[in-house]
Amino acid sequence: MVRRDLRTKTQGLSSKTQYPIPKTQNLRPKTLLVTGGAGFIGSNFIHYIITEHSDWEITNLDKLTYAGNLENLQDIENNPRYRFIKGDIADRKLVGALFSGEYFAANSLTPNTQDLRPNIVVNFAAESHVDRSILDASPFIETNIKGTQVLLEAARTHWLGSKTQDPTSNTQDLRPNIFLQVSTDEVYGSTEGKFSEESPLSPNSPYSASKTAADLLCHAYWKTYHLPVIVTRCSNNLGPFQFPEKLIPLAITNALENKPIPIYGDGLNVRDWIYVLDHCRALDLVLQKGKPGEIYNIAANQEKTNLELIHRLLDVMDKPQSLIKFVADRPGHDRRYALDITKITRELGWQPIYSFGGALTATVNWYLDHESWWRQIKSGDYAKYYDRMYSHR
Ligand code: NAD
Ligand code: TYD
Repeated sequence: MVRRDLRTKTQGLSSKTQYPIPKTQNLRPKTLLVTGGAGFIGSNFIHYIITEHSDWEITNLDKLTYAGNLENLQDIENNPRYRFIKGDIADRKLVGALFSGEYFAANSLTPNTQDLRPNIVVNFAAESHVDRSILDASPFIETNIKGTQVLLEAARTHWLGSKTQDPTSNTQDLRPNIFLQVSTDEVYGSTEGKFSEESPLSPNSPYSASKTAADLLCHAYWKTYHLPVIVTRCSNNLGPFQFPEKLIPLAITNALENKPIPIYGDGLNVRDWIYVLDHCRALDLVLQKGKPGEIYNIAANQEKTNLELIHRLLDVMDKPQSLIKFVADRPGHDRRYALDITKITRELGWQPIYSFGGALTATVNWYLDHESWWRQIKSGDYAKYYDRMYSHR
């Protein structure tokens, strides 16, 4: 019933602006180490890259925490250009063996051990949920800070050896190695205006503080060793495969079960929403055209208060607004995030192409079509987390 009603409202993803990615296929094939690829954005990114680049190799290193799910990648698990390795980015020995190629040889993953050594790192691996960081910051320090440093150090050792590269020389010479750190708008803190890449960093949660520390380590490895690092800072994503602890999938799945949707505080906190595929398009372009040592903001200029967002979602789903339940606010809750994306637009020619309405409908449809995916998650340890987080709120 819900499904049919929803289908009639589906417009699919409408294109806001047509802004094609420039053709830049002239660089040599890339061998990517994608970390955290079994999570939300990482799995979308891997699907995107496998489809877009027929000669790129992907190794996915993921610890499979509560947020990692190999089901997200089931359709490509036998693709010869993709392989999965279960492991921790903070495991120095394992990460070193991946960079040296020893791991691939020892595990007979390829007849030619040299081929799979990464020349690109895309670091998605992180503890990513603000509320969990408020309950316990420790895993955020281990993965987001220490893990990033282990990756940076392995890249430095294996890509640069004893030499360093002069960052003031033609940056094209630094290719093809790129260390892409996938960061967040939350490092800037809360704002009334818009943050540019030059804005001061002012994180307010243990999550954003740990991401900020990682960004600063990336900066230090660029300045000190000339490691070709690029940092991207993106706003809130929505789309398929998002773990239902985050607002949108939590609200969709609760609404489908006719359960209350918890809104923190007055519901007037503002987030700027981007469809996950727009984020993936931007990361792809940054890998091809971004300049080492630079930071790029990524956003779609689609700001909504949490209340506006949930009203719209319930409308799309034909569910009553009475499902909204105001609960106690998140401690230190950032009021508003907003990014200025002039730099990536001007310098790399990137623009978001997915409208908020289309993205929201596509996301709702995905959760409708993948009920067993989210029901499996919600019936496991998630139930304990949910109870701890919301039962006394
Ligand atoms: P997610 O929580 O869905 O996925 C994180 C993945 O990292 C999981 O697969 C998990 O198993 C893996 N992981 C965690 N610790 C690990 C470790 N020590 N070693 C290896 N793998 C580990 O997160 P997400 O929403 O997909 O976010 C991905 C990245 O993008 C994060 O770095 C996050 O800070 C950043 N980001 C997210 C958003 C967003 O809206 N979700 C916005 C901007 C930036
Ligand atoms: P979230 O999805 O956790 O992303 P972030 O905090 O990283 O922006 O939350 C998005 C917004 O929704 C944020 O302002 C907090 C709010 N929120 C609720 O109101 N209720 C909830 O149950 C959750 C998870 C979030």
